[in-house]
Amino acid sequence: MSVHSSQKRLMAPDIAAMKGRGPIVALTAYHAHTAAIADKYCDFLLVGDSLGMVMHGYETTVPVPLELMIMHGRAVVRGAKRALVVVDMPFGSYEESPAVAFRNSARVMKETDCGAVKIEGGRRMAETIHYLVERGIPVMSHIGLTPQSVNVIGGFKAQGRVESQWAAIEEDARQVAEAGTFAVVLEAITEPLARRITAAIDVPTIGIGASPACDGQILVMEDMLGLSPRVPRFVKKFGKVGEAIEGAIRDYAEDVRARAFPTPEHTYPMKGSASRSSGRLGPAELKATKKPKTPSSKR
Ligand code: KIV
Repeated sequence: MSVHSSQKRLMAPDIAAMKGRGPIVALTAYHAHTAAIADKYCDFLLVGDSLGMVMHGYETTVPVPLELMIMHGRAVVRGAKRALVVVDMPFGSYEESPAVAFRNSARVMKETDCGAVKIEGGRRMAETIHYLVERGIPVMSHIGLTPQSVNVIGGFKAQGRVESQWAAIEEDARQVAEAGTFAVVLEAITEPLARRITAAIDVPTIGIGASPACDGQILVMEDMLGLSPRVPRFVKKFGKVGEAIEGAIRDYAEDVRARAFPTPEHTYPMKGSASRSSGRLGPAELKATKKPKTPSSKR
């Protein structure tokens, strides 16, 4: 994966054109500063409705309101300069009819300046996908495990683990591709099924728990960073950010309690003050800045 330097932002057709041309790299992003970092390495960033669970403490994605998606969508678009930004349409904002889907998707695009929306569902959403694409809204699809249907499925369960389920999921993929979707997220499906779908449709498949057989991969950023307390089995933790945050907060708390923070260098001096102008600390100040030896400070 190359580090991007150009500022031209990728668009949905650029992602579609990457079919069969090497893995597409994607992550979720919910805020401007992490989006700016991920932007250097990713082809697209998804403002996933997983933000409800990852950032706002909901048990599922079902309660996530449209306004929350718009707020985080705006932040990610401000942070990312090159990657395509895709915003998830939350549960209840698009299923009712193609016209409702258009009204809410158009609002998301106008208010966030994102380049595409994502909707969950296979063939049942084909008519809506066609309607949106015809009217200028690029749509990414999401099939396999569709978390917004968790209450119907009965949990976050992998799909296609028995061969008798394959035909229906493959048909979902074919119909959303025919309807004009530019990429299809395959979530939590088995490798042979992902391979069949990837070969069967002419738009890229983006796997999350769907094996290397897909045209690209996406993970929830907080999961792969090692920040989420619980992660699905398909997540590889590429970082230990949760531990790093806890270590920093523990050190801060210890320093505050030991009066080792703030030191004069973190304090506004009086204008013309001697200790600041010489850069030297007096004996009392030196004593105050001495750090106690604690297990956390040895890390
Ligand atoms: O909301 C989300 O993070 C997603 C990914 C799981 C693809 O839809």
